[in-house]
Amino acid sequence: MSKLIAPSILAADFGNLQRDIEMVNNSEADWFHIDIMDGVFVPNISFGMPVLKAISKHANKTIDVHLMIVDPDRYIKSFAELGSNILTVHYEACTHLHRTLQAIKTEGMKAGVALNPHTSINVLEDTINDIDLVCIMSVNPGFGGQSFIENTYDKVKQLNDLITRKGASTLIEIDGGVTNKNAKALVNAGADVLVAGSFVFRSENQPNTIKDLKAIANS
Ligand code: DX5
Ligand code: ZN
Repeated sequence: MSKLIAPSILAADFGNLQRDIEMVNNSEADWFHIDIMDGVFVPNISFGMPVLKAISKHANKTIDVHLMIVDPDRYIKSFAELGSNILTVHYEACTHLHRTLQAIKTEGMKAGVALNPHTSINVLEDTINDIDLVCIMSVNPGFGGQSFIENTYDKVKQLNDLITRKGASTLIEIDGGVTNKNAKALVNAGADVLVAGSFVFRSENQPNTIKDLKAIANS
């Protein structure tokens, strides 16, 4: 399977959101990565349902929603109705992760689990076969533009081993500090999906940056 690029809309220009969504639509990007933060699970608030609704209206690629919120079960149905294709919850925010994953799938979405940098891959030993995507946080969640944590490579390898050992078909997504400098090493370690926020949106030629990142990931 080819490696996927998911620009993070958190780094877009919210004053020109439709323009930036069209840029992604017309680029070689594969998914839209949408960061929802509640100011409780993470020390920042991003945007919520009305903005996601506006994004969904214009986006014509897979919508990958990353929930950085406590008690995500409350909103699973709403996110399905707003057009999310993949709904990722944080391991650290779910007391009954298995139940949450089933609830996401019941609403017709793919179910993802995100792990904070301090959370070991081992915690997924008993759920990996129920998970469509694991999002390995390569920065502490809450903000774009942070530096990549090098320990991520080891975690990607461990997760890749776990997936192989369990015969799972889970995708490995990397989120935070992804650039053209670490993309190839991440893919070599086993990554399938690279999220990139500031690297894409702070670049001069955004479609070209996406194109280059995709070429590196698939080289
Ligand atoms: C961080 C978010 C990321 C963020 C990535 O909490 O989950 O998706 O937007 O941004 P960059 O690529 O700038 O690190
Ligand atoms: Zn994210």
